[in-house]
Amino acid sequence: MKVIFLVLCCLLLIEERAAECPEGFTLINSNCYWFRKDPEDKANWFKADMLCNRRGARLLSFDSLEEMNTLSDYIIAEGCNTNSIECTYWASANCLAQQDKFFWQSTHKRVKKQFFNKGEPNNLSGDEYCTDFRHDQESKYGLGDVPCTWRTPNFICKAPLKSAECVGMV
Ligand SMILES: *[C@@H]1O[C@H](CO)[C@@H](O)[C@H](O)[C@H]1NC(C)=O
Repeated sequence: MKVIFLVLCCLLLIEERAAECPEGFTLINSNCYWFRKDPEDKANWFKADMLCNRRGARLLSFDSLEEMNTLSDYIIAEGCNTNSIECTYWASANCLAQQDKFFWQSTHKRVKKQFFNKGEPNNLSGDEYCTDFRHDQESKYGLGDVPCTWRTPNFICKAPLKSAECVGMV
């Protein structure tokens, strides 16, 4: 009986803790995101990456297309439906390591073509080694390639949910 009680308590504790994001992060579909917007302090890709790491997080990456589409819906619902600079965020995908292949900086996984907006990546200015997350001018958000030294006020950091702990209960 006592054991069952402890197990139940522990499960409840896990349940409760499982919903925790680091302070200032927004929980969306079991991922934690921090939306950084600071017009006074524009950041190039490297600075955005550094500032995410300093918060114990990583610059935006997606583990699935579903995750990307969920975040896209969220940002659009918050009022962004253009590719204006205020509505464009750094993402971690880049081809700095190998020029013709994009990898997520955060997970080192290859970035599948389906994460890019139509017509992207296009290396338009000849030095587009980094990516941002922007509205595709039709209906949703996706990746586009841009020069890493481009500066924008906005980026998104992603952190895992704080891991559940049972220690201390028993
Ligand atoms: C982008 O264009 C530049 C200049 O033409 C070229 O050197 C570079 O290889 C291109 N990058 C990719 C990923 O194709």
